Amino acid sequence: MHSQIEELSSIKRKLSIIIPTYNESDNIIKLIEEINSSLLTNNIEREIIVVDDNSPDGTGFIVDEYAKRVNYTIRVLHRKGKNGLASAIIDGISIAEGENILVMDADFSHPPSLIPLMLKELEHNDLVIASRYVNGGRIVGWPLKRKLLSNLAKKIAELILKIDGIKDPLSGFFGFKKSIISMTKFDGLGYKLLLEIIIKVHNASIKEIPYTFTNRKSGASKLDITTIMDYLRSIWRLYRYGRKNSNERRGSVLFLSKASRFYTIGFSGLFVNYGLSMILASFIDHNSAMLAGISASITSNFILNKLWTFEDKNFGIKRILKQYGLYLLFSSVGAFIQFMITNLLMDRVEYEIALLISVGLASIGNFLFNKKFTFKERLWS
Ligand code: GDD
Ligand code: MN
Repeated sequence: MHSQIEELSSIKRKLSIIIPTYNESDNIIKLIEEINSSLLTNNIEREIIVVDDNSPDGTGFIVDEYAKRVNYTIRVLHRKGKNGLASAIIDGISIAEGENILVMDADFSHPPSLIPLMLKELEHNDLVIASRYVNGGRIVGWPLKRKLLSNLAKKIAELILKIDGIKDPLSGFFGFKKSIISMTKFDGLGYKLLLEIIIKVHNASIKEIPYTFTNRKSGASKLDITTIMDYLRSIWRLYRYGRKNSNERRGSVLFLSKASRFYTIGFSGLFVNYGLSMILASFIDHNSAMLAGISASITSNFILNKLWTFEDKNFGIKRILKQYGLYLLFSSVGAFIQFMITNLLMDRVEYEIALLISVGLASIGNFLFNKKFTFKERLWS
């Protein structure tokens, strides 16, 4: 016990504990008291920030009253309405005065007794995650359905955002040095602020420590279908964020992935071309039908390449028309070259071989010319 007191008193940085609440009147005061005693009274300069979304059960005002009777800082941030867990935490952080921030739920799923250890780890780490999924961590009292959901959400994050080395990126119980997020812009969508921090903050040293998550005894979980949809949206956004900001990707990988998109789209164009020519042929003459099929496939290829292959977000009318013009030009030039080469080669090799070579050359040229001139990219990127 003594050594623990000494360790804690050596922690100089001020601590802000952020607790988001929505209808937690049965829990919140008991929780604050338990936090208080786990911090061994007054050894650490600290504040508790409760971010309440105008809870119908009066949670925010209950804390206001309680705050008057204690000798340390408890602040309540009253927000107008239920606006989401992650955004509540962000708002809490924005008024926090501590250099260390700790985030936890109000429903006793996150044991306050773990806080001293988390603070100790924060001495030599930037981010400390209380983890259900490292050795020694557990979940108690969750129905199978919720466990499966949590695992699925975790798998999605691991797969799509390529998180490895972190076992519980969806934890709601974590602490960090405020300085690590000073440059970070958050989305604050849904529940998972920690995930955003992990993706957006680079070079932070991260430590996970095990704990037992216990399902709440009082009140109800606020997780609902909106939370799940928000989760998927935030995964999507973080995925795009990661792609935009990774300049570590090698040129060769980018080049190949773009080429494969370009040809996948080219392949899809065959179906547009063939399908439309077939359908229209029963209404108009064959040549007109074919012309419509060809134009439609070139146009759909152009649109898809702009959006997907080259991820060109500039939608100015003039720019699009110019690009479309160039794209048409290169398509026709490609076709012309294909004719020429096939005919030249046919003296020497069989038609099938000549065709293969000419189609190959024309489509490689097509890709490179459109990459360089239509979409103004460097060739090797
Ligand atoms: N201010 C505010 N606004 N608070 C909210 C809101 C909101 O819209 N939604 C939830 N809260 C508060 C709750 O009052 C509670 O204190 C905390 O956020 C967590 O909400 P729960 O509804 O109890 O979440 P959970 O138990 O299903 O999930 C929690 O545990 C998971 C595992 O650690 C969350 O912390 C998840 O983020 C976490 O993954
Ligand atoms: Mn809970």
